[in-house]
Amino acid sequence: MSQLVWLLDRGAALVAYPSLYLAVLTGIFYNTEVFGILHEGARRIHVELSVFAMLVTLLHAGLGIVDAWFVLSGQAPAPAYSMSYFLGGVVVGVGALLMLVVAVLGFTDAKRFDQPWGPRAVHGFAYGGFVFGTIHAAAIGTDIAGLVVPLLGPSVMFLVYVLLLRVLVLRGGVPSVSPG
Ligand code: HEM
Repeated sequence: MSQLVWLLDRGAALVAYPSLYLAVLTGIFYNTEVFGILHEGARRIHVELSVFAMLVTLLHAGLGIVDAWFVLSGQAPAPAYSMSYFLGGVVVGVGALLMLVVAVLGFTDAKRFDQPWGPRAVHGFAYGGFVFGTIHAAAIGTDIAGLVVPLLGPSVMFLVYVLLLRVLVLRGGVPSVSPG
């Protein structure tokens, strides 16, 4: 039973993380017209992609609590590191989920937040949720530590690069990439 939960939990996590990555990437292009075709593409898919990413993330979170319980109660094999480290990794995952939920509530329940916390400012919590999710995955994901240098690090660096490019473009430091 614990192995089935672990497989399903891992499967959900490995779909949730790349979906969340693409949700963040399209989010960066979403409000920046000068990105031209990338901006238009982002406007078409960002919301749908983000809803999908959140649903799979919620599935992972539910299964993750059961998975973590199996590990902590000794019903599943103990990880190669200490239990307190594992618990810390799970807590970072819970923090990631909470930030992502707040980011979505910024739009779906905007009245909940007082000024100056407008929907766009609250939606910025999505970055925090993604960073926490990345730390969580690298810390306690099975086999993920070996992917930090070849895959996880460069992918996150690419997001940082696109974000910096947007800051530069918005400040007028880089010519527009749109044909118009
Ligand atoms: C209540 C919130 C969460 C809980 C309880 C939780 C729990 C867990 C647990 C127990 C593992 C280790 C699975 C294993 O045995 O390998 C794990 C791995 C992982 N989690 Fe979470 N998590 C949560 C939120 C998140 C969020 C928000 C993300 C971001 C998308 C995320 C992404 C991942 C990824 C990518 C892995 C690595 C999967 C692998 O082992 O290959 N988690 N999580």
